[in-house]
Amino acid sequence: MRSKACIFDLDGVIVDTAKYHYLAWKRLAAELGFEFTEKDNERLKGVSRMESLEILLSIGGIRIDDESKKMALAEKKNNWYVEYISQMTEDEILPGVMDFLNLLKRNGVKIAIGSASKNTMLILERIGLKDFFDVIIDGTKITRAKPDPEVFLKAAEELNVAPEECTVFEDAIAGIEAAKRACMKVVGVGNRETLKDADRVIESFVGQDIELIEW
Ligand code: G6P
Ligand code: MG
Repeated sequence: MRSKACIFDLDGVIVDTAKYHYLAWKRLAAELGFEFTEKDNERLKGVSRMESLEILLSIGGIRIDDESKKMALAEKKNNWYVEYISQMTEDEILPGVMDFLNLLKRNGVKIAIGSASKNTMLILERIGLKDFFDVIIDGTKITRAKPDPEVFLKAAEELNVAPEECTVFEDAIAGIEAAKRACMKVVGVGNRETLKDADRVIESFVGQDIELIEW
C-alpha cells in the first residue's frame, strides 16, 4: 500500500543546517573555554535546544545549576545560529529533495514538516518553501521532544491521515524512534549503520521513486 502522506524532518533531511548548529555551538564552547568537535556534534542531531546545551556543557565538564544562566547561553547560541541561517538560499536544499517532493505532489500524496526546531519558519522562508507543505508542525507547536511521537502524531492529525498511512523521513536516531512510536513507516536519510532501526534507509533523495513509500 502506498502511504497517503509523508512527514519530513527539516534539519538534515530537507537542508543541511547541522553545520550551522555546529558553528554556533562551537562558538559558545570556545567562549566557555573548551573545544567542541564535529564528532561531538553528532550527539546533538534531532535533540532539542536545551538538551543540546546540557550535552555541550557535559562535554566541557561544566556544571551550571542556575536555569536563567542556561537560558541565556542557549539564547546566545540561537542568536548566532539565526545569523547564519538568515544567509541561507534555496541552493542549500539537499540534492534530489525538490524532485521527490514534486513527485509526491503529482501523485496526490500529502506532505508535511515535522521538526523540533523553533526556527523552522525562518529556514523554510529562506529556502522558498514556506507555502509548499500542506502542514507544518515545528518546535513552537509541541511540548515533548523526539523520541516522543507528538510532533508526527500532530502532523498526521492535521493532515487528516491515519498514522499507519504516513511515511516519515528522518536523519536522527531519536526521530526514527519517534516515528516508530507513532506507528508510522520510517525512511532513514543518511548512514545505514547509524539508522539501522528505520524500515528503509536512503543515502540521499537523488533518483528516488514513488516505490520508496510503497509498503
Ligand atoms: C532539530 C536539530 C537539532 C536542534 C533542534 C532544535 O531537531 O536536529 O540539532 O537542536 O532542531 O532547533 P532550534 O532551531 O529550535 O534550536
Ligand atoms: Mg534532523
